[in-house]
Amino acid sequence: TGGTVVNATGTAQADVLVDGETIAAVLAPGSRLLGTDLKATVDQVVDATGRYVIPGGIDAHTHMQMPFGGTEASDTFETGTRAAAWGGTTSIIDFAIQRYGERVEDGLAAWHEKAAGQCAVDYGFHQIVGGVDEFSLKAMDSLVDEGITSFKLFMAYPGVFYSDDAQILRAMQKSRETGLLTMMHAENGPAIDVLAEQLYNAGKTTPFFHGIARAWQLEEEATHRAIMLADLTGAPLYVVHVSAKQAVEQLAAARDRGQNVFGETCPQYLYLSLEDQLGATSEEWGDLEGAKWVCSTPLRSRADGHQDAMWRALRTNDLQTVSTDHCPFCMKGQKDMGAGDFRAIPNGIGSIEHRVDLLYQGVVTGEITLSRWVELISTTPARMFGLYGRKGVVQPGADADLVVYDPAGHTSIGLGKSHHMNMDYSAWEGYEIDGHVDWVMSRGSVLVDESGYVGSKTHGKFLKRDLTQYLV
Ligand code: URP
Ligand code: ZN
Ligand code: ZN
Repeated sequence: TGGTVVNATGTAQADVLVDGETIAAVLAPGSRLLGTDLKATVDQVVDATGRYVIPGGIDAHTHMQMPFGGTEASDTFETGTRAAAWGGTTSIIDFAIQRYGERVEDGLAAWHEKAAGQCAVDYGFHQIVGGVDEFSLKAMDSLVDEGITSFKLFMAYPGVFYSDDAQILRAMQKSRETGLLTMMHAENGPAIDVLAEQLYNAGKTTPFFHGIARAWQLEEEATHRAIMLADLTGAPLYVVHVSAKQAVEQLAAARDRGQNVFGETCPQYLYLSLEDQLGATSEEWGDLEGAKWVCSTPLRSRADGHQDAMWRALRTNDLQTVSTDHCPFCMKGQKDMGAGDFRAIPNGIGSIEHRVDLLYQGVVTGEITLSRWVELISTTPARMFGLYGRKGVVQPGADADLVVYDPAGHTSIGLGKSHHMNMDYSAWEGYEIDGHVDWVMSRGSVLVDESGYVGSKTHGKFLKRDLTQYLV
């Protein structure tokens, strides 16, 4: 009661009535429903006076306990979804993995096994297809029925997940045929690997050179190639973790031509930069300090204006979503595998807990509107990935996934502060947020209240998703 309900479509002073797992009504303040005084009849009243009531965040790109580079992402489904809840995110879409030579069905089954009964919030899967062949193409036919309505291909990581153009073409034909959304990791991996090897051989071995090897030209080129193959096949395309302004220009141009292409960026590409990484040296980690921010696509130069371009594209809708690409690794025992060779640093940054807060800073600084904030963190991911109506909106009939957000509150980010992710460092150490996630509910169950986290790892349910609702 007493809060301002914020949806992607606008704001209203309203009370929200929850019955069981869903929202029963959104009511003008002080409404009497069927002649009764609501406050006198409900089990519990949550006072949201002076605060925003928003649909729970949906993080459409996470990698809990993902095997990568000889190690595994340090957040389990349990710890990662708990951190999500702390940060106002009540749904995640993680990636089930099929590698070359494995069966898609087995990959998907393995991820169901990892997640079931371990999640504080609801979860769905995209399918990584790491080996496009006649078997995986056939298996893709049943994904829609399984509620997996999107798959990811990699133009990077030769020998690991990589698909060549012939494989991409075949998979995109399947995307066109089935309605599955093609998600693309758009970086020219073979070219990157040559540059990385040359840098290493020239003695340029520190984490900074990860970003030099992964040049923006190789993101622009791959993005363009993906767009052209999608145009040719008629596949809907969603480019993940966009960080180069030139890649955004490719997406914008394709959209202006009327093509169904969409783009996602991440908090790290809005706020962090290659220069930050260059300046990173600590007594403890020395030259390895920069490994904290090694992710792919890489952090890019602020002087070249990439971060500003990402914010602008979020305003112009040339980029539609902000996911975290949450792929956490600890410094000790994981990131430090790359001491003396940046190529051996496991790629990824963990941010699942901070996405809602970090994006709210865009409202504070005037980069985006309040409604666009909700659209980016919840409504568009819901529509893009076939969850809208159930998720992504505060309206009668929707799941009661609600966050009470205090714009006058404050959040200090860092280890020993608001950090609940299973990482021994924070990529966001020292960030001070104007705003605070006060209270979180998922399908009618309170996950976070004034006493802290009160959820359970058996609460989260698998989300069978519909086809993308972003296309006509
Ligand atoms: O560095 C990253 N992004 N790690 C996760 C894997 C991926 O490509 O999304
Ligand atoms: Zn990727
Ligand atoms: Zn990822």
